[in-house]
Amino acid sequence: MPIKSLHVQHVRNLSDVRITPSPRINIISGDNGSGKTSLLEALHFLGMTRSFRTSQFRHLLQSGADNCLVFAQIDPAGKGEQHPLGVERRPDGDVRIRHAGQTLGLSELAQLLPLQVIDSDTFQLLEGSPGVRRQFIDWGVFHADPSFIQLWRGFRRILKQRNSLLKCGKIDPRLRRVWDREFVTYAERMTALRARYIELLKPDFETTLSRLLGGVPVELKFSQGWDRKTPLDELLEEGFARDLKQGFTGSGPQRADLRVRTDGQSAAERLSRGQKKLVVSALKLAQGALFYRLNNRPCIYLIDDLPSELDEQHCRLFCQFLEETSNQCFITCVDPGALGGFWLPQTDVSRFRVEAGMLTQID
Ligand SMILES: Nc1ncnc2c1ncn2[C@@H]1O[C@H](COP(=O)(O)OP(=O)(O)OP(=O)(O)O)[C@@H](O)[C@H]1O
Ligand SMILES: [Mg+2]
Repeated sequence: MPIKSLHVQHVRNLSDVRITPSPRINIISGDNGSGKTSLLEALHFLGMTRSFRTSQFRHLLQSGADNCLVFAQIDPAGKGEQHPLGVERRPDGDVRIRHAGQTLGLSELAQLLPLQVIDSDTFQLLEGSPGVRRQFIDWGVFHADPSFIQLWRGFRRILKQRNSLLKCGKIDPRLRRVWDREFVTYAERMTALRARYIELLKPDFETTLSRLLGGVPVELKFSQGWDRKTPLDELLEEGFARDLKQGFTGSGPQRADLRVRTDGQSAAERLSRGQKKLVVSALKLAQGALFYRLNNRPCIYLIDDLPSELDEQHCRLFCQFLEETSNQCFITCVDPGALGGFWLPQTDVSRFRVEAGMLTQID
């Protein structure tokens, strides 16, 4: 069980909240504006030091407070252990992450507490820019391969250098060849890991989708960011004049994408709103299933307003699917009865009610 107890201070309208969540299913209900999404943001802050809803910390910090603190007892490997984890942040950006008496970096924290969010913004996985889908792929590769983070950092550094040289307009050809060689080395290694990850993910995605939305065939296709038939060093050479004019590099993993298609058409254009919610949820749940297979431990799912966009039957299928995984789930909904009868008696379900930033456990 990942989170055994949680203490939140000064996150939006949650001044001081303590809960002992279920290791499996936690349902948080409350009226509009009561603090449901804020609780999920607090959990996200614990695993990522930031909100999933805003990139600006000042919006997450409770008005008038001078720090935001989320503290938990966690059992990351599910071995019945208990370690303290605390994340504190101040308006000046100063972040402190303490785990079992040690200070952690952000990537160590992300590794410790693998989080998945499903909310109204998750539609961006289909409708948004390729950057959203690259982030999705890279979450998976980061957790699947320990070498990825170094490659990713190295590639970002080289891309930044190359682009700033392109913006200057004058590049010594010898210097360019050195940078391009490095660029290609990192690009190819990073891309091989991304491509392998998508191949691993496909069967999990198909199984999950057929459970949630049977009969709607959806195909995933990884697009690596440059024409597969041409070696990247040739493309960099051929495209150099264009890159120089534009001031950035046009080919490479920074252009990678994941195409999601149904019946040969873009899923974003073709599917209904509810179908899209099930497809993006299947993508996220498939990542959790693969994560479990590779790491032998579950993820934490933060699912904001699960019933929205879904009819009763699909809502039930979604809950049944969650019930069969080992993930710890925090699910919000407005109506406390909305997800009432969807769980087997043996499933460990805890229900909480939020009113004006105060949480009470209702059973
Ligand atoms: N920085 C802040 N400090 C204090 N309160 C805030 C801050 N930011 C937002 N709030 C308030 O926190 C409350 C809870 O917001 P939250 O988004 O968690 O509600 P919710 O229960 O998810 O509602 P909904 O059902 O509408 O999604 C709102 O009343 C909001 O105005
Ligand atoms: Mg909300």
